[in-house]
Amino acid sequence: MSQETLSPPPEDAPVAIVTGGGSGIGRAIAQRLTDDGMRVLAVDLKPSADGPGEPFAADLTTREGNRAAIEAALERFGRIDAIVPNAGFQHVAPVADFPEDRWDAMLSLLLTSPFLLAKYAWPELARRGDGRIVVVASAHALVASPYKSAYVSAKHGALGLVKTLALEGAADGILATALCPGFVRTPLVEAQIADQARAHGVPEERVLEDVILAPHAVKRLLEPEEVAGVVAFLLGPGGRAFTGVPVTMDLGWTAR
Ligand SMILES: NC(=O)c1ccc[n+]([C@@H]2O[C@H](COP(=O)([O-])OP(=O)(O)OC[C@H]3O[C@@H](n4cnc5c(N)ncnc54)[C@H](O)[C@@H]3O)[C@@H](O)[C@H]2O)c1
Repeated sequence: MSQETLSPPPEDAPVAIVTGGGSGIGRAIAQRLTDDGMRVLAVDLKPSADGPGEPFAADLTTREGNRAAIEAALERFGRIDAIVPNAGFQHVAPVADFPEDRWDAMLSLLLTSPFLLAKYAWPELARRGDGRIVVVASAHALVASPYKSAYVSAKHGALGLVKTLALEGAADGILATALCPGFVRTPLVEAQIADQARAHGVPEERVLEDVILAPHAVKRLLEPEEVAGVVAFLLGPGGRAFTGVPVTMDLGWTAR
């Protein structure tokens, strides 16, 4: 269906919060859920010009930012049916050189923000007996790569969080999953090419093939829209059997 033929979602349409909604995977998720008829609050560090509506600006490395995002959704829409913690960044450096402030910020964004969003939204998610939490984790929730100590640790932690949310949420009908994609064509991947070249000692033009795509059995990047399609499935009726698990879409990475 084209954008022009879409009518605005009805006022009682379910509501999703998508963090990192101003770029890459988050923007594709916000667009897809909007196209599917949900009301979406995209949250990001700053507003962006060309996404599906202006994201609500909040720094999700802080408690205040996470609380503000939940309050903004309730103020704007009056309910919350799903949260999709997705905001993230990457930092590539050996452990001995890894900046400690970057470690703290990454743990705050990739692990503590999903916890805080779930905590603050919990009564809303439990209210209708069908709340959903889909954390955009990574294949790095399941396996490690060198030079990504904070990212791999935080993503493994996010999978542990999801398992706990699933056990605690079951009685209230809250389902929680960790989506685990391989490499996706987004600014996050493009931004690490220079650092990967430095850390691995290969020229920048070889990084995509020799480093980034090396673990994929199928040698291509995922597209953000493919990830968004799986989030839409997990938030829909077909997602009812999935909770407490990684949902892996990694082009064969973790088959080894
Ligand atoms: N791109 C990949 O290959 C890939 C693979 C697996 C998982 N992921 C995960 O997908 C998620 C989205 O990544 P992406 O590739 O779309 O990256 P991206 O850089 O395109 O988008 C990330 C968004 O998060 C926002 N953000 C960063 N810090 C924030 C903060 N403190 N508060 C609020 N928002 C903040 C950024 O502004 C940006 O808009 C991340 O969690 C990432 O780890 C990405």
